Amino acid sequence: MKQIIYRSGLAIVALLVFSCSTKRTYTMASPSHNNQLVFDLTKTGQPQYQFSSNGKTVIEPSLLGFEFADIKKMTDGFQIIKTEVNTVDQTWEQPWGEFRRIRDRHNELIVHLKETDGQQRLVDLIFRVFDDGLGFRYSFPAQPNLGKVKISNEITQFSFPQDHDVWSIPVHRDNSYYESYYKKTKLSQTDTINTPATFETKDNLFVAIHEANLTDFASMTLLKSEGNRFKSDLVPWADGVKVYAEAPFQTPWRTIIIGSKPGDLVTSTVMLNLNEPSKIKDESWISTSKYAGIWWGMHLEKYTWGRGPKHGATTENTKAYIDFASQNGLDGILVEGWNVGWDGDWTADGSAFSFTKPYPDFDLAAITQYAAMKNVRLIGHHETAGATKNYESQMEDAFKLYNKMGVNTVKTGYVNKYLDKKEWHDGQYGVRHYRKVIETAAKYHIMIDNHEPVKGTGLQRTWPNLMSQEGGRGQEYNAWSSDGGNTPEHLTTLPFTRMLSGPFDYTPGNFNFDYKTPQGAKVLTTLANQLALYVIIYSPLQMASDLPENYAGKPEFKFIREVPCTWSETKALESKIGEFVTIARKDWEGKNWYLGAITNSSARQLKIPLDFLESGKSYVAEMYTDGPNAGYNTNPYPVTMSSKTVDSNGMLELALAPGGGAAVKFTPVVKNSTD
Ligand code: NOJ
Repeated sequence: MKQIIYRSGLAIVALLVFSCSTKRTYTMASPSHNNQLVFDLTKTGQPQYQFSSNGKTVIEPSLLGFEFADIKKMTDGFQIIKTEVNTVDQTWEQPWGEFRRIRDRHNELIVHLKETDGQQRLVDLIFRVFDDGLGFRYSFPAQPNLGKVKISNEITQFSFPQDHDVWSIPVHRDNSYYESYYKKTKLSQTDTINTPATFETKDNLFVAIHEANLTDFASMTLLKSEGNRFKSDLVPWADGVKVYAEAPFQTPWRTIIIGSKPGDLVTSTVMLNLNEPSKIKDESWISTSKYAGIWWGMHLEKYTWGRGPKHGATTENTKAYIDFASQNGLDGILVEGWNVGWDGDWTADGSAFSFTKPYPDFDLAAITQYAAMKNVRLIGHHETAGATKNYESQMEDAFKLYNKMGVNTVKTGYVNKYLDKKEWHDGQYGVRHYRKVIETAAKYHIMIDNHEPVKGTGLQRTWPNLMSQEGGRGQEYNAWSSDGGNTPEHLTTLPFTRMLSGPFDYTPGNFNFDYKTPQGAKVLTTLANQLALYVIIYSPLQMASDLPENYAGKPEFKFIREVPCTWSETKALESKIGEFVTIARKDWEGKNWYLGAITNSSARQLKIPLDFLESGKSYVAEMYTDGPNAGYNTNPYPVTMSSKTVDSNGMLELALAPGGGAAVKFTPVVKNSTD
């Protein structure tokens, strides 16, 4: 990654150190002084923090600390031996993303703690206070009396002052990879919830709790405890231990993002700023892609993954998909079911999967040659069914093979309640495995699209070959879900919940609403809504997921052909969680703007000020809006394509149908030199 760090005149890096103070309370404001952290030690020497925004309490005093399996806990009996203060203001550049440049502007407080008695063990608490939130982590330095530890409990609390509303998904209830509906409840009605969890406070703030840089640790979930309090509940190993670690080690960052509008959460960069710069020196092989694939056909039961008369991944079929991609401005074709191991119930075990042996009717060499000729890349597929040991034993060879064949992207999958029959996807076991995959793939110049993942925590900053993830209810539920398919409300909630953890391979782009599957599920949106999703749901690998024949002769496909999947700028415009979303994004070159708007099952009129456009410039707005009598449950097809000239003083009026949407491309009008 071009981790260009712009240390302009703006950048001030100050370091103040206070030693051996008897002071027990420290405060740290964000750079614009809107947010404030207070750290103190209780009477028993237990660390605690509180956080406020513009004078409103966001987090009341909340305790910090850790407990271990075999040794004394580190929760109280501390004194502050030293504090440090740093100010950072720097800007770095991403190779792809929702912003080209990201400003990291924060004030840091590091509190060095030491037990007063006994073993005098040490722990540091590091707080970074941003204008849009807070990150804090524990750092256990190397020390004589702390070596290998088994963490049994993290004490970290998040105490809210009131019983706010929260959008959340439960932990390990439906499955272990976050594919649930986000439900809005009172905080008091939750049990254990996953992060990101998004709160609307009684005093009109939007707050999201999550984590950043989850590396060799267990995921943090939130256990509802007394009052309006959550505490960290780490996902355990099968043996009950939460985390195996050895000092020196650091925890992931616990993050609290704050905004006055839902959109402020969408554009926060706190999570990325709390990850480390790229470890990939030469990033020239990393690129974003729009792709199609032999995929939806399996979910519709037109094809099978395994062998037989309906096998989808044949040489002939793959070549036809490659032709489709090359004729339609897509540069990738995903092929699932190409390798040995799918016959029978492939979800049950996974040990039969080979990642190097193609089925006999799939000629890998011929296909990759054909793809190269057509300027299309084959996107590889590694479904493991959760058998990570089987996968790890073949991984190097599998990536080596793909690298040799010119395949530079692999979609991975872990369909199973457990990894290796007993561990959670989001425990330390899973975190270690997924990291190993990303690092090994990088060695072979392969990008990863991880399905059934551990939640995103911004690792793509460090490993920008981690392109996209699933970790949410995607389009596939519209094929086989027994509850009918993803509701329009699900889509209007995702940007403020799931999307806060990073790119989502949702796989939008459905153009045919008349398919039938045994479960009777449906895509519950209009066609214009499907187009808008390319702007609303960010992924640097963006799929045109429908069958190629369903795009044939459809003028609306022009939008999918043209819409980028990496953006130099993102603006979240007026939105209401679960009701409607409007997002505007500027292409990577900083020329054209795109806008996506979607609504839930209610029709809606939106008036969108165009002040995000560059002032003084005229733009042609090409609009794809819901046509006459469109509606997700009545007639999803009608799309009106129209265009007009607009500028930044204008207002766009959009009529969205139930479950509808609008997609707009704004191209600057090029003035004639004679004008
Ligand atoms: C679940 C994934 O989400 C889906 O995209 C894939 O087709 C199947 N697993 C098979 O790997």
